[in-house]
Amino acid sequence: MSNEILLLSGPNLDLLGSRNPEVYGTQTLDEHVEHFRQLAVEAGFSVRHVQSNFEGDLIEAVHAARDDAVAVVINAGALTHSSWALADALDTFDGVKIEVHLSNPAAREPFRHLSTLAGSVNGSIAGFGATSYELALDAVRRLTEKS
Ligand code: DQA
Repeated sequence: MSNEILLLSGPNLDLLGSRNPEVYGTQTLDEHVEHFRQLAVEAGFSVRHVQSNFEGDLIEAVHAARDDAVAVVINAGALTHSSWALADALDTFDGVKIEVHLSNPAAREPFRHLSTLAGSVNGSIAGFGATSYELALDAVRRLTEKS
């Protein structure tokens, strides 16, 4: 049985570190991913990370995860607020699904208040900066123990 977590990063997250540091902090995406990977490996998981600025790439990564992964942790960036196609893709994945955000979209501009993904995931963790990823891993650990 696979113990792989697919960690998905959507548009513009490749610019973390220099993109709106007052909102997203100064850590780069690589730093977030490596920290997540280290904690995940300690907890007995492997991690496959995919970042793309293209919706279709993220959808195809979810399709591939249907055979390979026990969990998807997704920060879809702004696609969170618009992508019904990504929500449909997540609906086809039977494992644990956690939506994660560095910032708290609910406390920001109105267009960020809708998550098209919210109904397709087990739950969302938002607003804790880098700690959001640690909490997402904790959620994966607890939910995969149960299933
Ligand atoms: C984000 C929040 C989104 O609203 C935004 O478009 C992002 C990053 C976050 O991690 O806080 O790109 O997902």
